[in-house]
Amino acid sequence: MSSATFDKADFTPDVLICVDQSGTIDRVISVADKDYQSVKQAAINNSTYIHISEGSYLLPGFTDLHIHAPQWSQAGLALDKPLNEWLNTYTFPLEAKFRDLAFAQRVYQSLVAELLANGTTTGLYFGSIHTEANLVLAKICASLGQRAFIGKVAMDNPDQTPEYYRDNDSKEALEETEKFVQKMIQLKQSSQAEITAVITPRFVPSCSDETLSGLGKLAQKYDLPIQSHCSESIWEDQYAKDRFNMHDAEVLDKFGLLTDKSIMAHGTQLSDSDLKLFHNKKTTIAHCPISNIYFGNSVTRVKKAHQQQVNVGLGTDISGGFSPSIYRNMQQAIMSSQILTDSGDRNARITAANAFYLATVGGAKALHVKTGLIKPGYQADFQIVKDQYFDISSNDPQEIFERLVYHTNKENIKQVYVSGKLVHSIGENDNGK
Ligand code: GUN
Ligand code: FE
Repeated sequence: MSSATFDKADFTPDVLICVDQSGTIDRVISVADKDYQSVKQAAINNSTYIHISEGSYLLPGFTDLHIHAPQWSQAGLALDKPLNEWLNTYTFPLEAKFRDLAFAQRVYQSLVAELLANGTTTGLYFGSIHTEANLVLAKICASLGQRAFIGKVAMDNPDQTPEYYRDNDSKEALEETEKFVQKMIQLKQSSQAEITAVITPRFVPSCSDETLSGLGKLAQKYDLPIQSHCSESIWEDQYAKDRFNMHDAEVLDKFGLLTDKSIMAHGTQLSDSDLKLFHNKKTTIAHCPISNIYFGNSVTRVKKAHQQQVNVGLGTDISGGFSPSIYRNMQQAIMSSQILTDSGDRNARITAANAFYLATVGGAKALHVKTGLIKPGYQADFQIVKDQYFDISSNDPQEIFERLVYHTNKENIKQVYVSGKLVHSIGENDNGK
């Protein structure tokens, strides 16, 4: 199963998906093709054939477009507090602990394994301010085989960040970011892993003007993706107006931070003109529906963004969102959109097919990676999931698809592959049968 369009998921029974040595899908052969049997037999003979049993399905792996890696050890805590209080009393003290590399190793190992077990084959991460701890995260992603985009968090505004957890000044924020970028380039070369550095101003309030502008220039110099938060909450939106007399999105744009490689988290408060700016800049929204319930003060207008041709993907926002599962976030995205409908925006409801598109194609487009679809030329990023109600429910493909969106949990995700490599597995594999 994979997305046919934003509005429709495709279901193709009885196909052979051939993956080449580099982990790219080479051919998709239907049962009616004349070499189906011979290709299948050759794969069985050389033990590269993987059979998917009845009641299980092969789906593309998911992309999580917004994860705060150091927050994993507090997932689910203090979510009743407003954003600013949650940041200052819980989140900044926790993130400050990541100068301890042994602690970072333990938390990051647990997080990346958990995300893979939930079907997330590509992750876009905020690290902490610590260059070395962020490299620990990159090495774990490389060794566990997840495709990863990782940012050293830049935050130096003394008005909005505590003394114990900030870059001392703009010079330090920019120098450490550049050092991290260069070390990631070296690590990528030496490990051959799919890891990329990301320019990461935490959000406008936490950065000085010099840092915002310097980061825009670094992104351009190294041609890198950019991530931040944009118009997450009424408070953040108002902050940009007070400091710059501009919308949050306009401030990011003024500093060169809205590009076709930018992924901006949340966007609950984005106006129609902000969406137009996102469209013009080809910037993506990372929709984090669980987190938005706690901190967003509103629901992100996914349908409206799609209609204005703004790309949207999904993010867990660990730990503003408590769940590491993109399935759980697809469910919440659909549920939250019903509230927009109730408040008069008739066209706002999203479907299971829409949510699945965000989790696969939307995320892949944001990061310019060839994943999220099962087609020749795309990376072999797969999850094999079991329909736990196969025996008692309808076998109509669209209904199976909706059931998978609503009922899959990590116990039903049997195998996960990134670029053709098995990165997670539970239970028996029936290879060759
Ligand atoms: N805005 C700035 N930092 C954060 C963070 O860590 N989480 C969320 N949800 N919003 C933020
Ligand atoms: Fe966030």
